[in-house]
Amino acid sequence: MKREGNCIIGQSGGPTVAINASLSGVLQGIFENKLYNQVYGMVNGIEGLLQDKFLNLSEIFTSQEELDRLTQTPAMYLGSCRFKLPTCEHSEDVYEDLFNFFEKHNIRTFFYIGGNDSMDTVLKLSNYAKENGKDVNVIGIPKTVDNDLPMTDHTPGFGSAAKYVATSLLEIAHDTYIYNIPSVTIVEIMGRNAGWLTTASILARTEYSPAPDLIYLPEVAFDMDQFIEDVKAIKEKRKNVIIAVSEGIKDCEGNYISASSGAVDAFGHKQLCGAGKTLENILKAELGCKVRSVELNVLQRSASHIASRTDLDEAVAIGKAAAKLGSEGETAKMVCYKRVSDAPYQVEIFSYDIAAIANQEKTVPLSWINERGNDLNEEAITYLRPLIEGEVHLSFRNGVPHYCNIAHLHDRH
Ligand code: F6P
Repeated sequence: MKREGNCIIGQSGGPTVAINASLSGVLQGIFENKLYNQVYGMVNGIEGLLQDKFLNLSEIFTSQEELDRLTQTPAMYLGSCRFKLPTCEHSEDVYEDLFNFFEKHNIRTFFYIGGNDSMDTVLKLSNYAKENGKDVNVIGIPKTVDNDLPMTDHTPGFGSAAKYVATSLLEIAHDTYIYNIPSVTIVEIMGRNAGWLTTASILARTEYSPAPDLIYLPEVAFDMDQFIEDVKAIKEKRKNVIIAVSEGIKDCEGNYISASSGAVDAFGHKQLCGAGKTLENILKAELGCKVRSVELNVLQRSASHIASRTDLDEAVAIGKAAAKLGSEGETAKMVCYKRVSDAPYQVEIFSYDIAAIANQEKTVPLSWINERGNDLNEEAITYLRPLIEGEVHLSFRNGVPHYCNIAHLHDRH
């Protein structure tokens, strides 16, 4: 059903390699079914929109080839922001500005692709529209490598980051086993409060490589003495010890093990740096052998060359489903995946009330973690494996992937 008028789409929060696939899915859904007249894109999310920064996507993406390139382009074509929309009670003028913009450009639907903090924007805008009789509906589309949004089986972007983590752990194992000297390698993986991405390291294990030998998540309080004991015990049996740790591991009092830079983002989240480095220095002093830490950092969320086919295909599908939902006038909803079966792997798409999702965090089930808090069981593998299946064949130009032109993000004017 066509919704008269135009719509606008934004991307927000930390990037993944599938957010542009969701954007491409929304655009494909709209263009194929002629759901709106014009599709605008906010540059740098809601923050950019408040500065009148937007593009006309209907004029930019005029062929399937360009939409397919967008599907395979990492991070965010539209740019991002970490911006906490103030409450209406505190800053009604912000809402007035936004809704004046919507009126001026005849915008009927606002789509926002983001994580739990971005869903707070979806909730606030949809509440304001309802309370003030505005004919603008607001739809959330999930994304995050952290996989910590409730209600949805998983989030777009997680599967590709998980594939990067599993592949990198396997490749690090190959690199580590070459020397005939004892060593410990610590791999630090993203995830402040939820260790989903670190769980994916278990998928690196093969019939010839047990790496990672130890896995530590923020869901379990980290005990330094026990950690040193665990490493020593593995070292007795094997020449090389390979460890996966979440950036957000905390002690029993909730203090991060990593050094904190002291900086916080707009949502008050601490910017973490160096759980792996901290553990490296402690183990060097304790063991006296070669110890190295590797921080996967932004590589794990921008590596389109090792994206999961399943992830990208699903991200396009969830974008198309969001376009349909928006055009039907639904509001205050986020589109979600429901897992119908593990083997054969099958998902369906449905939508759920944003109020139950915004600002909530879903963590790894404790039933997947062993008693000592340093490994995971088969349930984790059953959940994770299908999400990383399938490869993406990128087109290359001059030896590097041919991605969308994003000059509009780095030009200052
Ligand atoms: O929100 C996703 C995420 O990638 C987290 O896993 C990570 O802690 C955070 O973003 C880092 O954010 P930024 O890139 O803004 O420093």
